[in-house]
Amino acid sequence: MQRSSMYKNKISSIFLIIICLFSVLFFNCSAPRTINHKLYKYDQSYQPTVYASHAGVSSIHPLSSKVGLYILQKGGNAIDAAIAMQLALAVVYPEAGNIGGGGFMTMRLNDGTTRTLDFRETAPAAASRDMYLDQKGEVNFSKSTSGHLAVGVPGTIAGIFESMQYAKLPFKELIQPAIDLAEGYSYMVDPVRINTSINTMPSALDGHISFKKGDVFRQPELAATLKRIRDRGRKEFYEGKTARLIVEEMKRGSGIITMNDLKNYKAKWRKPLVFDYRGHTIITMPLPSSGGVLINQMLKMIEPYPMSSYERGSTASLNIMIEAARRAYRDRAIYLGDADFVNVPVERLVSTQYLESQMKDFIPGQSGISRPINLPITKQESHQTTHLSVVDKDGNAVSVTTTLNMPYGCGVVVGGAGFLLNNEMDDFAKKPGARSASGGVGGTNNLIEPSKRMLSSMSPTIVIKDNHLVMVLGTPGGTTIPSAVFQTIVNVVDYNMNAGDAVHAAKFHHEWMPDQVSVGKFPIDTITVLRKMGYKINEGFDSYLEVIKVNKDKTLEIVSERGDAEGY
Ligand code: DON
Repeated sequence: MQRSSMYKNKISSIFLIIICLFSVLFFNCSAPRTINHKLYKYDQSYQPTVYASHAGVSSIHPLSSKVGLYILQKGGNAIDAAIAMQLALAVVYPEAGNIGGGGFMTMRLNDGTTRTLDFRETAPAAASRDMYLDQKGEVNFSKSTSGHLAVGVPGTIAGIFESMQYAKLPFKELIQPAIDLAEGYSYMVDPVRINTSINTMPSALDGHISFKKGDVFRQPELAATLKRIRDRGRKEFYEGKTARLIVEEMKRGSGIITMNDLKNYKAKWRKPLVFDYRGHTIITMPLPSSGGVLINQMLKMIEPYPMSSYERGSTASLNIMIEAARRAYRDRAIYLGDADFVNVPVERLVSTQYLESQMKDFIPGQSGISRPINLPITKQESHQTTHLSVVDKDGNAVSVTTTLNMPYGCGVVVGGAGFLLNNEMDDFAKKPGARSASGGVGGTNNLIEPSKRMLSSMSPTIVIKDNHLVMVLGTPGGTTIPSAVFQTIVNVVDYNMNAGDAVHAAKFHHEWMPDQVSVGKFPIDTITVLRKMGYKINEGFDSYLEVIKVNKDKTLEIVSERGDAEGY
């Protein structure tokens, strides 16, 4: 493994100790299996690029990345690593890593096979369109975001078992690192996490304790649940003891998920959304994620413009991209939803003719207008979804975004099973025009119906050129996800940036409504000129991108914006 010199300087002895302890865990020596929590403090600040010549992984947590690397080095392929990392994240990053939530996977094998897997949660059979409205017809956000009624039927375990058909190693080897972590891993609750999550984490883990700074977090029940899944497979989660514990938990609150809901859950292979952008092929997630459609629309709207003739980050370039985003996000609100339930004219929405017509009223140097509608504005999205990117030594690539929705989901832990449940029901439009906590206005196509999937923005994406892998990428961030993926692709394709620069460059987000641009750290002059163009600027945009870029000489640039990149 090669690292940039900056990183070399930063490797501390603590980090080395972590690696040693990890080897001990995985190679099953007789060392104590409880690891000092103090070793697990890691900061989510700027992370430099890791360069590798064979394979790499990138995820938010050093332990999940090390699990991925371990699996790859032991002969596993990219799917093996992605499965093991998802399970490890469920243990070490309970804010978003999960077995009680859902997500999406985009994969491309070195023989050219491309597939997208939808393991998004579904509405329980007893869900109904108005279930989150009060007597006055107003949305009761606390019901759709916290507690038992906010939970969608979880899809992660179904997704993992569905993707096992591409795995090389036996499942028991892929889940074992997560079991070891759940048994041996503990950490002292971090004050930053507490500040951001205390309100959504009411009485959660190991029986009804509120977290406070310095509490130690252990997960023996989760370890037992993972062992049952290891021994009994998918059925354990959807029909076995774990399913029964979920339903019992539902009954303790006002939850409506039944044994039948769990039994009927299916992860679904979807036809990947594939399109060309300036000689590159983009492979991304179709509905029920809005991500692919948005990225497709935004890239195709800017393609007729000579982006590379403007400087990256120049107001001319930003002006075009913001206007493309405004128009794409408007369509998200109006048209997008689960295409198994509603008609969505995707082909028309991504057609050249339609996208050209959308940009007809764009006037260079001026802000466009989003027709005002009186909509509630929610707070800035926090980053409690998580993404992982993997490339193995044979060039197979996997991109997975997974979530509980908000930090720690609905804040309910399944009693006796030790894992958190999602609050994904909030991603439905609780009524036409209502927003979700993840951002985005919901239209009628995203209203609640039994068994329907709620619209997502998660965008696991893979870029290829001339049949060669170029990039694997994704990020958390609710509706800002497609914006970050879109701009990272533009940075690489139009501005020829390396992975590190593309990831760390300032980015923006405009989602039609509210009519404002959220901006990262652009120079003050850029902001001033954008304001003069008529844009309302709102400072604050960040992403947690996980990107692997493959160069022509097959070397890898692995970048975890704030997590941990590993390669060899
Ligand atoms: O599916 C979605 O789009 C949201 N539930 C994702 C939420 C999210 O990304 C929150 N964290 N950043």
